Amino acid sequence: MGFIEKFLNENISHSPLQKITHPLLTARNLTLSIKRDDLLHPEISGNKWRKLKYNLLHAEANNIDQLLSFGGAYSNHIHALSAAAYHLKFKARGIIRGEEHYIKNPTLSQAKKWGMQLNFVDRKTYRLKTQSDFLENLQLQFPNTFIIPEGGSNYLAIPGVEEVIAELITQSSEKIDHIFTATGSAGTLSGLVSGALKYSPTTQVHGIAVLKDAQYLAPIVSDFVPQSKQLNWHLHTQFHEGGYAKVSADLSDFCIQFTQQTKVPIEPIYTGKMLYALWQLIEQDYFVTGANIVALHTGGLQGLAGLKEQKKY
Ligand SMILES: Cc1ncc(COP(=O)(O)O)c(C=O)c1O
Repeated sequence: MGFIEKFLNENISHSPLQKITHPLLTARNLTLSIKRDDLLHPEISGNKWRKLKYNLLHAEANNIDQLLSFGGAYSNHIHALSAAAYHLKFKARGIIRGEEHYIKNPTLSQAKKWGMQLNFVDRKTYRLKTQSDFLENLQLQFPNTFIIPEGGSNYLAIPGVEEVIAELITQSSEKIDHIFTATGSAGTLSGLVSGALKYSPTTQVHGIAVLKDAQYLAPIVSDFVPQSKQLNWHLHTQFHEGGYAKVSADLSDFCIQFTQQTKVPIEPIYTGKMLYALWQLIEQDYFVTGANIVALHTGGLQGLAGLKEQKKY
């Protein structure tokens, strides 16, 4: 057994499926459960682990010694990648959008403690992160390094996320009508669409875009999952609340109340924004009575410290 498989067996098991009780759900006769991927691992939690798993196994199988990826100054992905690299004994390098002073923030200071080398670049340079000549140059500069895209959304992310659906069908005694996820770079939504096609083709999959003007994400899902037309899936682009990491007073109030009522910790950038959208859809009678809904908790709770530091929450 490889080192990573051993780490997996010892540290990461199925995440719980938690039934939520709430007066709105009772009033509309709906069932809601939260797939608690935030509990997968204390540091490599949520969709980060799901997306990284096969990337890490690939790196191990190819004797890679360094992992490199991209992210903003508070990136959950950079945080999780640095933790994974630390535990699994890879070197790690983060190309970070923004100025050097961010190194002191809670996300990056922790990534640095886990041994990640941080290279700060301006916004213009950061935008080159998907261009082949920029990536080729990085590869030349850092040999034996596996370059993972921003957010960890690549083809190797898909099988890891598919496992959410495989687990869910063993955990839910009833047919799952809808599954919801927050959507940023669309790897998670793609993996859920792919997983539903394999294991639960009557489940409708919904991505709540957490950024503005996110229609461009739909073709990404079709690229990752060429058979996606065969499934009923939706990208909802109207719930961004002003844009990425924008936290309106209503969204903030919703998240605080939701945690008080359900005891499920959430943050407002991803899972909180998705649940707030779900609540609005319920209020608009989007669902037929009796529907069984699952919301994926994609983790990201490390981001709360950064939000508090910036006084956004
Ligand atoms: C906590 C959290 N939830 C959801 C997402 C969105 O996932 P994706 O980028 O795969 O759409 C991200 C970004 O990766 C995230 O950090």
